[in-house]
Amino acid sequence: MNKKGWLIAISTMSGIAICVSVAITLLPGKDHTHEIPGHADHHGESAHHNHAHDLNIEPTREVISPIPDSIEIDKPLAKLGWILFKDPKLSSNNRVSCETCHSLTTNGAEPHATSTGVRGTGTRNSLTVFNAALNYRFFWDGRVNNLHEQIDGPIHNSLEMNSNWRTIEKYISESPRYSTLFSQLNLEISEQSIKSALVEFMSALVTPNSAFDQYLKGDAQALTQQQLRGWEAFQAQGCIRCHRGTNVGGGMVMRFGFFGEHTKGEERTIDTGRYLVTSRPEDMFLFRVASLRNVVDTPPYFHDGNTQSLEEAIRIMGRSQLGVTLADNTVNDISAFLSSLSGERPAILEEFSNDPY
Ligand code: HEC
Ligand code: HEC
Repeated sequence: MNKKGWLIAISTMSGIAICVSVAITLLPGKDHTHEIPGHADHHGESAHHNHAHDLNIEPTREVISPIPDSIEIDKPLAKLGWILFKDPKLSSNNRVSCETCHSLTTNGAEPHATSTGVRGTGTRNSLTVFNAALNYRFFWDGRVNNLHEQIDGPIHNSLEMNSNWRTIEKYISESPRYSTLFSQLNLEISEQSIKSALVEFMSALVTPNSAFDQYLKGDAQALTQQQLRGWEAFQAQGCIRCHRGTNVGGGMVMRFGFFGEHTKGEERTIDTGRYLVTSRPEDMFLFRVASLRNVVDTPPYFHDGNTQSLEEAIRIMGRSQLGVTLADNTVNDISAFLSSLSGERPAILEEFSNDPY
């Protein structure tokens, strides 16, 4: 089985028992009679249009499973990926590495609303690379379905690293250090092997054992009373209809502003989401449902990074995605619940830092 299949397999296996129990305890959500227009192409199982009354979502996927405690990876390959990830010489001005916008010492993202690369500032907030491998869709608009393809984005983006694979291959081949590292792994220097190393590294960046995962794994004491109320509200209000799966999101593409453009908050910039990629009118404002793993640690929020507070983000979601104004205590409870989704720092980072090449 390939890596992706394997990853899915472990998360499914470890998830099955829990999924069953969570599915049983799920509160029935509010009845949604709205059909999402242009409910665009979704990942496999979730694309069933006969569930229109339920925001088109398969009921059996209304679950959250814990992040696996350990993930089988090829460590030497991941370590090479770690070196590449931190290397600014992959960019055209030798100053921007993947880590510039995806900090490995903090949250896998950056604290700015939008990222600054080789040629200045882009329009979107950096997404965290932590747990990214557990998503089914990549980027804010879900335009790519796997991490290998995703890497072309920042490499070619003239605002980000502004480079290309031929230049990078040449740089790596001419570097004695990389030549040694690649030959130690019996790897030819190519676009494919460079990507594989980066993907292997990112696949190891999981943050297991959050309080909520401990709760899902059977520790009834893992959540505070307020977090428990927040978890109930998260289900009862219907957040879970979109934010679910191992990453509490990251699996499908939905309209941001389902209940109207004006419900998204005054400060939003104009970004038409998936429409920018497809030019299909029905794809207007479609964005990937954000993963909520470690969400308290990754402000600012939304694709444009224009919302600073998590409570405000929750209120906006209530208005724009559910058509409700959430009471303050509900917002606070949900915020407490979301804080239970922060896990441990990826163990591999410690390991590699303690034993660099
Ligand atoms: C100049 C800043 C910048 C640099 C450099 C950069 N990224 Fe990103 N990254 C972003 C932004 C911004 C996004 C979101 C873009 C979007 O959705 O349109 C993103 C998205 C991603 C995602 C998608 C995560 C998800 O859940 O969908 C991954 C993975 C990622 N970057 C990895 C990398 C890798 C690997 C490199 C180096 C080869 C890199 N990035 C370089 C800013 C950057
Ligand atoms: C109809 C689907 C849907 C529902 C229901 C929904 N969301 Fe979202 N959520 C999304 C989408 C899509 C995004 C990404 C929006 C964007 O483009 O910035 C998102 C983003 C978020 C973010 C920002 C994450 C980040 O890293 O920037 C938070 C927080 C959030 N949702 C929480 C909630 C909560 C809490 C609820 C319930 C009150 C909820 N959502 C209900 C689809 C949904």
